[in-house]
Amino acid sequence: MWNPAALCCRTAASARSPLLPRSHTLNRVFGREYDALCQQPAQGVQGEGLGRTPGVLPCRSVSSKAKYRQYAQTYPVLDGRILSVYRHVFEENLRNSEAVVKRYSELLEMVRKGGGDKAIWRHTQRNKKMFVRERLKLLLDHESFLELSPLAGLNMPYGDVPAAGCLTGIGRICGVWCVFMANDATVKGGTIYPIGVKKQLRAQEIAMQNRLVAVYLVDSGGAFLPLQAELFPDKSHGGRVFYNEAIMSAMRIPQVAVVCGSCVAGGAYVPTMAEETVIIDKIGTLFLAGPPLVKAATGEYVSPEDLGGARLHSHVSGCSDHFASSEKEAYECIRNVISTLNYDPLPEEAVEHDSPLYSPDELLGLAPRDYRCTLPVKLILSRLLDGSRFQEFKANYGMTLVTGFGHVEGHLVGIVANNGELSHDASLKGSHFVQLCSQRSIPILFFQNTAPQTAEPTSTSQAEAHSSRLKAQASMMAAVACAAVPKITIVVGGCFGSESYVMCGRSFSPNFLFLWPNARVALVDSRHLSTVPQAGDSDHGGEEAELKELKEKLEEESSAFYSSARLWDDGIILPQNTRKVIADCLKITEQQKYQVVSPCQHPVMRM
Ligand code: COA
Repeated sequence: MWNPAALCCRTAASARSPLLPRSHTLNRVFGREYDALCQQPAQGVQGEGLGRTPGVLPCRSVSSKAKYRQYAQTYPVLDGRILSVYRHVFEENLRNSEAVVKRYSELLEMVRKGGGDKAIWRHTQRNKKMFVRERLKLLLDHESFLELSPLAGLNMPYGDVPAAGCLTGIGRICGVWCVFMANDATVKGGTIYPIGVKKQLRAQEIAMQNRLVAVYLVDSGGAFLPLQAELFPDKSHGGRVFYNEAIMSAMRIPQVAVVCGSCVAGGAYVPTMAEETVIIDKIGTLFLAGPPLVKAATGEYVSPEDLGGARLHSHVSGCSDHFASSEKEAYECIRNVISTLNYDPLPEEAVEHDSPLYSPDELLGLAPRDYRCTLPVKLILSRLLDGSRFQEFKANYGMTLVTGFGHVEGHLVGIVANNGELSHDASLKGSHFVQLCSQRSIPILFFQNTAPQTAEPTSTSQAEAHSSRLKAQASMMAAVACAAVPKITIVVGGCFGSESYVMCGRSFSPNFLFLWPNARVALVDSRHLSTVPQAGDSDHGGEEAELKELKEKLEEESSAFYSSARLWDDGIILPQNTRKVIADCLKITEQQKYQVVSPCQHPVMRM
């Protein structure tokens, strides 16, 4: 996870100048390119469309530093004081936040131990391999990286699978933002569970949507066999990882791999399909069927090394491009490979920025325990934006949605934040504002706290109001879906019902979606459920018990931890770290501004 305290330059190697692709021609393609490619790879990749994608901008002559100094500091300052009338709600939220943050920290600590002490001993002492988190320290420029969905895989129907058996995240290598996918072999030999497949596919999606280099550290026993039916045959199962590798290569998204352990069966395709692969002597093996299967089929015993070790694949088969005699050498080699991507140095310009005027720690008291404990959203914004400055759009219209512009660590962003129910006027305002951002190529931050389902209409006029609101919300959904700019969603409270789609929920493909630990994700709010919804008017004697059972089920299923375990988001973040996470996501999404996307037709194929 982001650990600002751990931000330190690693070695002389990491002090090399950061790199980015050569031209600064802006090319905004974001999610649409990915979706189009997945549906029609041949046309999508070969056509001239990539160079002409809407949102392609010319280079600007005024530096962002100058723009920031010139304009941002004149935006009005938000009043972020917490009035005494709100104090009791603030205290109630704070108590709840402390409880959920404690649970979050406990789970995180557990997950960081991978498969546990015994498995780590077996992995490091017996098998002489490095623990996956130590590997990342050698690979990345900084110890600090954005870990994605660390709580994925907890409390699944098939048990706990810490971090889904595969760490994913985004960090810099030689200054270039890269997505990594690293098997944790201390979790059942690094075998792939259904949730592990989902996690890898999401990491690849992030790589495609944000055009990030992908790095695979493969150390896996292949499919977790008892669950093979849930991870082998379907479209979004294991094979999709290999399909994506080809598509990504055709999109000119470089992919590199390290074979740092076992690579069995389907897993053997991950490094073989990567554009450049390093295999480590003695610990890296790669084969479709391991020695036990060979023995069963031929009666002959062959050692893993002879069947598919580093020497064989570097000298004979060509499945690997580089031979490394140690783990350290392998990660150094990958860093060198990244430096051959022919990227120009990233502009060093660090934009000056002001801190918010109010303490981010107070966000814990603004994180609603319950939708009814929601305080005005501008109190949250005043703790996240540079100088607490906010250029509001349509301040007096549709006030249950707050829209406007601000900066996060010097990056200009458009903000769309729930401040009550998404009314007809609020939705129209949201549509208008989202289109403005798209028109001006400004990334959008959605602060989501949507209301639980409203009551059924009791009069014709109410029904009419519902219909017109529905129509306005549908327009906003269309505006959000089609906005060709990076979108980042932070669920700060409720993620309820259909309004959550309008606020760029998961199915609207934001570049990133994070939850605060107090967040609640559900169709309806279990706390407000007073009857069990029934078809017809049948008389139900056991309704009370049924209601209790339903409420308990919904309560468990609505928690942020339940959501994050199932990868409905990219992870839980602490409210006080939100500004840092957003700033880094903005930097990550900006990397593609500097990439040339030439009409490339073919993936790189291993010959
Ligand atoms: N499916 C289910 N469980 C598996 C597994 C698989 N494919 N591969 C390994 N495991 C389990 C082991 O049963 C063991 O479980 P335990 O901790 O409860 O005892 C755990 O993973 C670790 O395996 P172990 O063999 O003790 O560790 P290792 O580090 O010595 O070796 C492997 C790891 C992956 C090299 C080795 O287990 C192996 O070769 N597995 C079979 C791989 C295979 O044939 N896969 C085909 C998939 S289609």
